[in-house]
Amino acid sequence: MTAPSSRLVTTRLCVGLTGGIGCGKSTVAQLFAKLGAAIIDTDEISHQLTQQDGAAIPLIRAAFGTDYITAAGTLDRARMRQLIFADKAAKLKLENILHPLIRAHSKLLLSAHTDAPYLILVVPLLFETPAFLHLIQRVLLVNCSLQNQIARVMQRSGLSESEIRAIIAQQLSQTERIARSDDIIQNDGACDDLMNQVTALHQRYLNISKY
Ligand SMILES: Nc1ncnc2c1ncn2[C@@H]1O[C@H](COP(=O)(O)OP(=O)(O)OP(=O)(O)O)[C@@H](O)[C@H]1O
Ligand SMILES: [Mg+2]
Repeated sequence: MTAPSSRLVTTRLCVGLTGGIGCGKSTVAQLFAKLGAAIIDTDEISHQLTQQDGAAIPLIRAAFGTDYITAAGTLDRARMRQLIFADKAAKLKLENILHPLIRAHSKLLLSAHTDAPYLILVVPLLFETPAFLHLIQRVLLVNCSLQNQIARVMQRSGLSESEIRAIIAQQLSQTERIARSDDIIQNDGACDDLMNQVTALHQRYLNISKY
């Protein structure tokens, strides 16, 4: 017999929202939230897990040593980012700590009571971490041109163009993401264009969630 929590997970429409760095995932998620969707953001969960007293901190300390934990007891993000960018084994080790915790926490939130007609689960690297695909019924891709992507990330983060290009090169290609998505938002226009696309998809998700 199915456990009550997993039954709840599968009865409500859950859309996985993904896209490359800086393409507009968080912006789009906020617009869906305004229309009444429930949003679960795995980036936020990951941040909580790596705050002071977060569930991942003792595991990260044991696996990487105290050098990667700040004096305040949080994950030293800059240091860890540097390490995992250059070292694939370290990246995998960190993912093996974080991903199961993020999934467990996402499942809890997915099964929590909400009046929302459907849920949006924001997973930046959805295709790179297939275990998350079990939690969703559809994939929504937020896409934008490479030029806009680089300009937006540069403006927000202060990273150089070559650093951003290196991050993008590590992620799945745009063509592959598009091929694997059910719905696509092309985020190259102004705010009202984005809102129009979100509103049309919201209507579609409401219709789907009735069945
Ligand atoms: N249509 C748009 N026009 C102009 N700026 C935009 C547009 N959409 C998003 N932005 C800006 O681009 C930046 C990146 O957007 P956002 O944070 O939503 O992307 P993201 O995909 O969540 O990024 P990350 O991968 O870092 O989580 C933000 O500063 C946001 O305000
Ligand atoms: Mg974001």
